[in-house]
Amino acid sequence: MKNIILTGDRPTGKLHIGHYVGSIKNRLLLQEKGDYDDFFIMIADAQALTDNADDPKKIRDNILNVAIDYLSSGIDPSKVHIFIQSEVSCLTELTFYYMNLVTVSRLQRNPTVKQEIVMRGFEQSIPVGFFCYPISQAADITAFGANIIPVGVDQLPMIEQTREIVRSFNRIYGDVLVEPKEFLPTNDACFRLPGTDGNNKMSKSLNNCIYLSDSKEEVKKKVFSMYTDPLHVNVSDPGHVSGNTVFTYLDAFCEDADFVSFYPEFHNLDELKLAYEKGGIGDVKLKSFLFAVLERILEPIREKRSYYETHVDEVYDILKNGTIYANKVANKTLEKVKNAMKLNYFEDRQLLDEWEKR
Ligand code: TRP
Repeated sequence: MKNIILTGDRPTGKLHIGHYVGSIKNRLLLQEKGDYDDFFIMIADAQALTDNADDPKKIRDNILNVAIDYLSSGIDPSKVHIFIQSEVSCLTELTFYYMNLVTVSRLQRNPTVKQEIVMRGFEQSIPVGFFCYPISQAADITAFGANIIPVGVDQLPMIEQTREIVRSFNRIYGDVLVEPKEFLPTNDACFRLPGTDGNNKMSKSLNNCIYLSDSKEEVKKKVFSMYTDPLHVNVSDPGHVSGNTVFTYLDAFCEDADFVSFYPEFHNLDELKLAYEKGGIGDVKLKSFLFAVLERILEPIREKRSYYETHVDEVYDILKNGTIYANKVANKTLEKVKNAMKLNYFEDRQLLDEWEKR
């Protein structure tokens, strides 16, 4: 079996460090392992429009932002095809055929969609396009025959929905589509990184995100104003680790080697946690360590960004070439799908033969 990797992001804003640990890190891992036949990363502009129909400019403005975020993080365009969803029009055609295989009640049960409906205030009137985006996501995945999907946990319901569509399609029309499987981070702390204020979710409107494109000074400011443990008043007081955002971030980002480089008094995070709980570790010291760990990751990203920001024409060509390739692959799948569904009237004159043989 072929290994095809596909994933994507909605271009509604710049990517932050939650995206990094939740999915980008795994993409880089897969890219470096090289154990794949094809690797696609899609900028999901059409999906972004399903809940931003009135603000297409926001989506347009973020296409290059997201592409530059990918490339600066280390996504290598010679190994990965980056493309724009709306420019691969057969994805919408596939979506239309898959819609027949999904019931309204099945869509209503999707926990991520349910949550988003509340978040967007769509309870009174849900846009049909938004309601159906899990079906369009199944088209994104199956159009490329993708079987490995590096995503965060919030995307599990979409992958499950895709598997169901694949099974229904293959049962009714023949074995054409491939069942995908998610590729999740192994570290629980990466599942949903809280905002710097300790709020459950990183969100632009809450101003609690550290962006991949933040300057060193911005990162410093954000780390040093992070939510820690309100009961840890004096350095000597025993501190709490659980619910302490700095430790949640350290869980997600720090490696044993970081102690050698930035905090040689300890060997690993478990030792540091024990010491913090005993008392004697100040929050400033703790935040300085986190800042060093984050900068180990962000500094090289910043360096690559400064290259791509001055070579945007290269980014543009990367997107264009990735999209041309994506169209080739997805068109082949659409052809197979339509053949399986007997929607190929003008391929030859078989329709006439069938008429004769009536
Ligand atoms: N729903 C994903 C998100 O919100 C984006 C996405 C669209 C995607 N199509 C996809 C992810 C296909 C993986 C595979 O981030």
